[in-house]
Amino acid sequence: MSTYTIDTSTSRANPTPAPMRRLTVPKIQERKGPDGKTHEPIVMLTAYTARMAQLLDPHCDLLLVGDSLGQVIYGLPSTIPVTLEMMCAHGAAVVRGSWHAVVAIDMPFGSYEASPEQAFASASRVLKETGAAAVKLEGGEAMAETVAFLVKRGIPVIGHVGLTPQAVNSLGGYRARGRDDAEAAKILADARAVAEAGCFALVLEGVMEEIAIEATRSVPCPTIGIGASAHCDGQVLVTEDMLGLFERTPRFVKRYDDLATRIGEAAATYAGEVRARSFPTEEQIYRPK
Ligand code: KIV
Repeated sequence: MSTYTIDTSTSRANPTPAPMRRLTVPKIQERKGPDGKTHEPIVMLTAYTARMAQLLDPHCDLLLVGDSLGQVIYGLPSTIPVTLEMMCAHGAAVVRGSWHAVVAIDMPFGSYEASPEQAFASASRVLKETGAAAVKLEGGEAMAETVAFLVKRGIPVIGHVGLTPQAVNSLGGYRARGRDDAEAAKILADARAVAEAGCFALVLEGVMEEIAIEATRSVPCPTIGIGASAHCDGQVLVTEDMLGLFERTPRFVKRYDDLATRIGEAAATYAGEVRARSFPTEEQIYRPK
């Protein structure tokens, strides 16, 4: 079990814990008032490492250790091969690197679907080994019993409906969902089922705008959209997508930077200087006094 904390005397980073307490799950849930309105939208980004968590944390209400780390960090073809061990290791790093946001951790494929009991064993391990406050799991009506089981036993859950990437093999790809009436009705039924089962927030991924509007209107918990329009109670993006670390980004991603180009340029400058023997210079070398 990981009980490490950041040692500020040896850390390369300069984290300045703000004089604010960590947000809590009830505070996130309360953002959506009894009138169904969210006056302060919920800001969520993914984080998989301590350093990224440190940089994002002051700006976010929720940090999600998404199983998208399978593709983003490990270069895997989908989220299917992601393991509980990976989620626990990265989850603990993100908790160490944050002091303000609620940290939620994705339950990886195969760790929760068999039964509520299996889900409880996996989710309790995740919370014990990471110090995170919540888990997220994919699925609608089929997962409602599991969500209720976890919530009743003290495990806060974020639901995830619409385009659910762990179902890529049955969906046949990552296309946005809910283009026809039957699929739209199913997504809304899924959203209501997990919300009624007690999830404190609900990710709506890759759905038509009308579905996002109707789901946000009809569920009591905040909805957090990704490719689901501005009508949700909050938004989430994969951080590396919005930073422009990949050449290909889905339509719903807005690139707020072009880090891939900037990293390439920095590496090329470094390589040129090493080859020209112009790095290191006097400034970077040790000499006896
Ligand atoms: O795994 C992930 O990063 C996610 C978000 C995209 C919602 O589930």
